[in-house]
Amino acid sequence: MPESGGAERHALRLKAVSKTFGGVKALDGVDFEVLEGEVHCLAGENGCGKSTLIKIVTGVYKPESAGLIELFGERLDGITPVQARDRGVSVIWQDLALFANMSVAENIAFDAMVGLRPRGVDYRGMKKRAGATLERLGVTLDLDAALSTLPIAQRQVVAIARSLMNDARLIFMDEPTASLTQSETDRLLDIVRRLSADGVAIVFVSHRLAEVLEIARRVTVVRDGRLVGVYPTEGMTQARLGELMTGHMLEDSVAARDMSSAPAVFEANRLGRPGEFENIDLVIRRGEVVGLCGLLGAGRTELAHAMMGMSEPATGEMRLHGDVYRPTSIRAAIAHGMAYVSEDRLSLGLLQKQSIVDNASISVLDRLLDGLGLISNGKKLGLIRGWVEKLGIKIGLPDDAISTLSGGNQQKVVLAKWLATEPKVLILDSPTVGVDVGARAGLFRIVRELAEQGLAILLISDEVTEALYNSDRVLHMVQGRIAGEYDPSTTSVQALEEAIYE
Ligand SMILES: Nc1ncnc2c1ncn2[C@@H]1O[C@H](COP(=O)(O)OP(=O)(O)OP(=O)(O)O)[C@@H](O)[C@H]1O
Ligand SMILES: [Mg+2]
Repeated sequence: MPESGGAERHALRLKAVSKTFGGVKALDGVDFEVLEGEVHCLAGENGCGKSTLIKIVTGVYKPESAGLIELFGERLDGITPVQARDRGVSVIWQDLALFANMSVAENIAFDAMVGLRPRGVDYRGMKKRAGATLERLGVTLDLDAALSTLPIAQRQVVAIARSLMNDARLIFMDEPTASLTQSETDRLLDIVRRLSADGVAIVFVSHRLAEVLEIARRVTVVRDGRLVGVYPTEGMTQARLGELMTGHMLEDSVAARDMSSAPAVFEANRLGRPGEFENIDLVIRRGEVVGLCGLLGAGRTELAHAMMGMSEPATGEMRLHGDVYRPTSIRAAIAHGMAYVSEDRLSLGLLQKQSIVDNASISVLDRLLDGLGLISNGKKLGLIRGWVEKLGIKIGLPDDAISTLSGGNQQKVVLAKWLATEPKVLILDSPTVGVDVGARAGLFRIVRELAEQGLAILLISDEVTEALYNSDRVLHMVQGRIAGEYDPSTTSVQALEEAIYE
């Protein structure tokens, strides 16, 4: 970090940047500055304009007005993608924009090879440079492996290495940890520290506030497209940061109740499926929220899949309201009153090209038919309006494509879609990944209300605090088995974390 030798230099300076989409003011006169070699977080609720800001700096969107745009001390009238790249600006997008059927080395060196004829490519030299770049990140990967064989965390490293091959000096990472496990996240944060020590500026976007405070030196907070302020992370707490993002205090407290005398809605008895889970005894009672914690790969999602008829258990049985329940498809499960907000919402849960209203109402089409058996637009709109209000979904028009919504708001549409099926049992698999703190609080208020109305809820979560504060009981799954049960009103976050991570 260029801290010695006088004034620090700016990698980026933006002043009074605005951008509107249709009726939505995504950015309204925002200032944003990043120093060379700095790790700077951009924080704010879903839809506040973070990704839009990144797209402006990388030339994807043209701002409708900007007081100043300056990259590495050079003033620009506007930014095109080529200008951004030539000045060392790079983005690690969520989908990573890599080529699955090319090798690690080819992906890293891709831009260097573009425009060359196959015979003109110096493969040995390319591989050597790719290897050297990975070394700079402190990572070893098989350079010849096809990208498609790598887990997401390693693909991310490949995307970062590619940026470095292009001499990136300012790298934007938009929710890079959303689909990473804790240990993968730690490794990514190490890489970010290395890059920063090397003089590369990093703009980091994450809804996990602990991570934000750990990695960044400063954080810029945006709310509803407006700048709230720029703060040093030293001395900042998660509670304070959440308050700056939402504009109000957020309270976390244990909501657990003793539900042991409520009737069982869902039961699993000695349920097993080889290689996934075994000997699962599970009861979810009427009105109860059961938390399910565990490390990635513990079998939680596999269990949910069996509950939803997406896979067939080999041993044991399931019961619903006391009757044997043996779903053979997800459709059959839904007909029995099961609903599932899946972990992989963005790829499985939504039809990206279709409108918000169609996505939200797709699961309840039969209830929306009018007298002639046609789907009533009025009813569809009524449905979406109700949920938009209840879940605080920030949308432009109901007929806009779902892809125009910010990531977190897309997730709320998925939730709306499943709630509209009026389920008896609701499985929420990691429901807050990519959802901001304010919306999390709103989401769990809704979960609580649904439980009070009698829904039986299974909350699968990677975040111990989230499971502990919002469940009536918490189960811990290890290698396909339920290893422990915890009462949130007598268990500390620390005790549960130790049980899971140690
Ligand atoms: N291409 C687009 N067309 C229409 N509206 C858009 C488009 N891109 C963004 N918006 C709107 O602009 C606002 C800001 O969106 P943006 O994606 O920047 O939010 P974000 O801060 O990245 O949110 P998240 O945390 O959910 O990712 C949102 O209201 C969004 O719906
Ligand atoms: Mg975003």
